[in-house]
Amino acid sequence: MTVDSTSQADLDARAVFDPDVFTTGAPYDALARLRRDTPVHRVELDGLPAVWLLTRHADVTAASRDDHGFSSSTGNTFVEVAAGDHSAMLPSLDPPRHTRVRQLINQAFTKRNVAQLEDRIRAIARGIVDRVVELGEFDAVPEISAELSLQVIAEVLGVPVEDRLSIFDWSNAIGSLGIEDPDYAPTPEALGEAGMAMFAYCNELLEARRGSAPREDILGALLAAEIDGERLSDAQLGEFFLLLAVAGNETTRNTLSHGILALSEHPEQRARVAAEPGVLLDAVEELLRWSTPVLHFRRTVTRDVELHGHSLSKGDWIAMHYLSANRDEAVFDRPHDFDISRKPGPHVAFGGLGTHFCLGAQLARLEIRVMLEELYSRVPHLEVTGEPVRLRSAFFHGIKRLPCTTEGSS
Ligand code: HEM
Repeated sequence: MTVDSTSQADLDARAVFDPDVFTTGAPYDALARLRRDTPVHRVELDGLPAVWLLTRHADVTAASRDDHGFSSSTGNTFVEVAAGDHSAMLPSLDPPRHTRVRQLINQAFTKRNVAQLEDRIRAIARGIVDRVVELGEFDAVPEISAELSLQVIAEVLGVPVEDRLSIFDWSNAIGSLGIEDPDYAPTPEALGEAGMAMFAYCNELLEARRGSAPREDILGALLAAEIDGERLSDAQLGEFFLLLAVAGNETTRNTLSHGILALSEHPEQRARVAAEPGVLLDAVEELLRWSTPVLHFRRTVTRDVELHGHSLSKGDWIAMHYLSANRDEAVFDRPHDFDISRKPGPHVAFGGLGTHFCLGAQLARLEIRVMLEELYSRVPHLEVTGEPVRLRSAFFHGIKRLPCTTEGSS
C-alpha cells in the first residue's frame, strides 16, 4: 500500500503521537475522524517499524484478546525491550510464560489482600486531606494525586515509613520512563541509578523479611507464592518492584488529577459526590473512561493479517488507542460528556480484558474511590483556580500542575 503523507488521516495520526499536541489537550477531533474514516491507519514514525493505529473500540478489544496474532514479547510501548527467559516483567511476556508468572503474582493480588489495604489507604487519604485543608491553596498534583499513588505503592511493597522518601524518588524517576516532558524526563544515568538503587533496596528488604516472622500482606504473599515448586526469585521480585513503580504511579496519579479537574468543571456532579459517596463506585468507572491515563499500548504482529482491507505484515507494530476506544460513539452514548450517572460501560482504561489486563485494577479503583470519598466529604467545594498544566506526553494522559483552593465559591 502506498502512503499519502499529506492525507488527513496521516496528519491526524501524527497528531495522535505528537507529545506537544497533548500540552493543549488530547486531539479528540483527529481521533474521531480516524475512527470514522480510517480505523486502521499506517503511521511512519522516526526510527520505528511501521505502526498501525487502531482507534475503534471493537478493534482495540479484539487485538487485546489475541495473544497469538499480536505478541507482547518485545514490549508494549514504543521502547523495544527483550525479556530474558526468566524475566517476571509481565507486560513483555506472552503465554504460556506469562500465564505462569501471572498466576504466581496473582496469589498476592487477591481481592482479600487488596481489600485489606482499604484501612491503610483511608488513613493515608485522611492525612492528605488534613494537609490540604491546612494549606487552603495548593497544587493538587503533588499534594494529592502523586502523594497518594506513591504512599500506596510503598504500602503494597511493605516499605517501612522511614525508607519511603527514597522509594518516592526512585519511583518517580523510573515511572517517568516514556514521558517526553522535559520537567520529568530523567537523564539515562539517573534512570539507571534509580533502577539499581531500587533493586539493591529490594534485596535488603527481602532479606529483612525472610529473617522475621511471615506477615500477611502482599509482599508476604509474593514471597510465599508457589506453583509446582516454582517460586519468584529475588531477581524476579526486584523486577516486580520496578514494574509497580512504573505501573502504579503515573496512572493513578493522573486519574485523580483528571477527576479533581472534571468535578470542579461540573459542580453539580461534585455536589453529588460530596453528598452521596455511594455514587463513587460508578463515578470512578466514568472517570477512568473519561481520563484514560494510559493512552495506548502496542503489540507486534506475529503473522501477516488483513484488517479493514489493510495488509499488516509480521513484525509490524499495532498501537491500541485506549483513549480513542473510550470515546467511541459506537459504544458510548455522548462519549465526550463527563457524566457520573452513566451506567458503567466496557471502558478499556485497564486494557481490553486480554491476558495483560491491569493487575492493579482493583487496587487502583479502591485508591481512587477512597481518596475522592475522603476529599469531597471534607472539602465539598474543592475548586480548580487556574489553567491545568498538561503533561507533554503522547503515552500518559497527564496533568502536571493543578492549582486548587479548598474555599471554592459554588
Ligand atoms: C488508574 C490506574 C491504572 C491504569 C489506568 C492502568 C492501566 C493499565 C493498562 C492499560 C495495562 C495494560 C493492559 C493490557 O495490555 O491489556 C496495565 C497493566 C498492568 N498494570 Fe495497570 N493501571 C493502573 C494502575 C495500576 C496499579 C496501581 C498497579 C499496581 C499494582 C498496576 C499494575 C499493572 C501491571 C503489573 C500490569 C501488567 C499486567 C500484565 O502484563 O499481565 N496498574 N495497566
